[in-house]
Amino acid sequence: MVVTPSDCCKDLISSRTCLLSFASKFDKGSSNNNTLGSNTIALATATLCCWLVDRLLAPHRKPHVVGDVNIHEVCERVRAVLLAEYPKGLSVQRDYDLSIPEFRGDKEQLIQAVMNIAQNAALALGDLRARGKANITFKTRVARQITMGKVRYRLALELHVMDNGPGVPAAIKDRLFYPLVSGRDGGTGLGLTLAQTFVQQHQGWIECESEPGSTDFKILIPLS
Ligand SMILES: Nc1ncnc2c1ncn2[C@@H]1O[C@H](COP(=O)(O)OP(=O)(O)O)[C@@H](O)[C@H]1O
Ligand SMILES: [Mg+2]
Repeated sequence: MVVTPSDCCKDLISSRTCLLSFASKFDKGSSNNNTLGSNTIALATATLCCWLVDRLLAPHRKPHVVGDVNIHEVCERVRAVLLAEYPKGLSVQRDYDLSIPEFRGDKEQLIQAVMNIAQNAALALGDLRARGKANITFKTRVARQITMGKVRYRLALELHVMDNGPGVPAAIKDRLFYPLVSGRDGGTGLGLTLAQTFVQQHQGWIECESEPGSTDFKILIPLS
């Protein structure tokens, strides 16, 4: 089961009583049962936040479904969803190296990872979509002699999801993949954390280079 933010809100409301009783156990210094000390509130809030983040990240603990993955099928699935969701003003280009071999992996997880990255791009392209000038490109290449997590791989797959939007806000650039880091109203800040988790489950890595007019999320996954 995928846990949505709305599930967590319900949990939050129903956990309020538990939170207060939990907090009061630590509130040795307070003489009034209805007034909790600020340290206690901070501790209890931090504990609850950790628990909520854990629940939101729960999908990555689903069992890995491993099969043969064709990265271009992954891209095409995401592309079809984007074009259906944004039928006007957005072009989604492909620049594929069709010689890239299939690899063992969890296709649904990788679709989710690429979808999260591409959806961010589409959202960042709001103004350009309105002017009919928004562009997302999926580019695949083979990379050779790549080192990831201190391991050297002879061959890796490189998937770039590029857009011509305004770029990642400077204020969050260094923390982009951390949970709960968002640069937009209503964002959860979990999309890129999940994407990174899913790609890491394939021994891979995601990097981002971004400046106004050009953002490039590069997914690397070892092939051999
Ligand atoms: N292609 C992009 N262009 C501009 N900003 C981006 C892009 N991708 C991600 N971001 C920024 O990174 C933030 C974090 O993304 P994410 O982890 O998916 O959380 P959310 O989408 O819920 O905010 C976004 O809010 C946005 O500010
Ligand atoms: Mg997102």
